[in-house]
Amino acid sequence: MKIAIIGAKGMLGRELCRVLGTQHELLAWDIDEIDITDRARTIDLLAAERPEVIINSAVFVDLEGCETNPDKAWRINAVGAQNLALAAQQAGSALVYISTDYIFDGRSEVDYDEVAQPNPLNQYGRSKLAGERFSLQICPHTYSVRTAWLFGHVPNNYVERVLKAAEKDGVVRMPVDQLESPTYTGHLAEAILHLIATGAFGVYNTTSLGYCTRAGFAQFVLQQAGRSEPVEIVEASAVGRKAKRPSRVVLDCRLYQLVTGQTLPQWQQGVKEYLAKASQT
Ligand SMILES: NC(=O)c1ccc[n+]([C@@H]2O[C@H](COP(=O)([O-])OP(=O)(O)OC[C@H]3O[C@@H](n4cnc5c(N)ncnc54)[C@H](OP(=O)(O)O)[C@@H]3O)[C@@H](O)[C@H]2O)c1
Repeated sequence: MKIAIIGAKGMLGRELCRVLGTQHELLAWDIDEIDITDRARTIDLLAAERPEVIINSAVFVDLEGCETNPDKAWRINAVGAQNLALAAQQAGSALVYISTDYIFDGRSEVDYDEVAQPNPLNQYGRSKLAGERFSLQICPHTYSVRTAWLFGHVPNNYVERVLKAAEKDGVVRMPVDQLESPTYTGHLAEAILHLIATGAFGVYNTTSLGYCTRAGFAQFVLQQAGRSEPVEIVEASAVGRKAKRPSRVVLDCRLYQLVTGQTLPQWQQGVKEYLAKASQT
């Protein structure tokens, strides 16, 4: 298949290029090739290529930045997604929209399934929910892939930040105010590969299995990396967080498993594979 990956230089985009590139012809586009906030040009560029699948992995993801600059958040995450959905619809392409667990408020004690009511707490989550709705409304051939807390092979990713803090400060300071499912981009890219083979369009929760706090994640990373530095639990405000975050967002991935016959691994497996790959480079 011919697949256009938009946001191809980002953390997930790079991994999508690596994983999907082994089996498919790719158009790997980022802001230098296509600005998704430009409706006419986005439609024209994709109409000229007519890919079978367009993956929207372009985003303004900085939570604090989205709070202070909501215009930018909505322009890229909502209007940009709308433009790509229009382009997909006009080019006859299927669309993959990468969505987020931050569309939920984290107040539920049970895991969120695909019909749970979204209620985002911040501008990032609100603009992403708008982007998801535009994608599904405009392009009926849309997979919305709701995922969470990604880590992958880009500088300053979460695993690297933990290891750097241990190296520099001799201690890693992390909060315990959130429970989420850390998801390795390699595993998510594989999951998207399985999903686009089904033709079964719709909304899918697609995260690693299991969940942890930031401190729990750091502890596991240090242990796997053979480090002995301690993890110190701190208030969320101490690590510079201002945007509201959901406290417990765990997504129920049953539907993805039923439709694809695949299961994403436990998050700890993602950390192990990340570290194994990082040590080779
Ligand atoms: N990161 C997470 O923890 C997380 C969690 C849940 C869901 N997600 C979702 O996963 C997807 C990928 O996230 P990511 O972490 O890989 O993001 P990322 O690393 O920031 O990658 C996004 C890419 O999109 C590019 N971009 C920004 N504005 C654009 C525009 N107007 N036109 C074209 N490209 C543009 C960015 O370029 P610049 O860098 O130059 O701006 C960047 O290369 C997003 O949909 C995000 O909402 C992420």
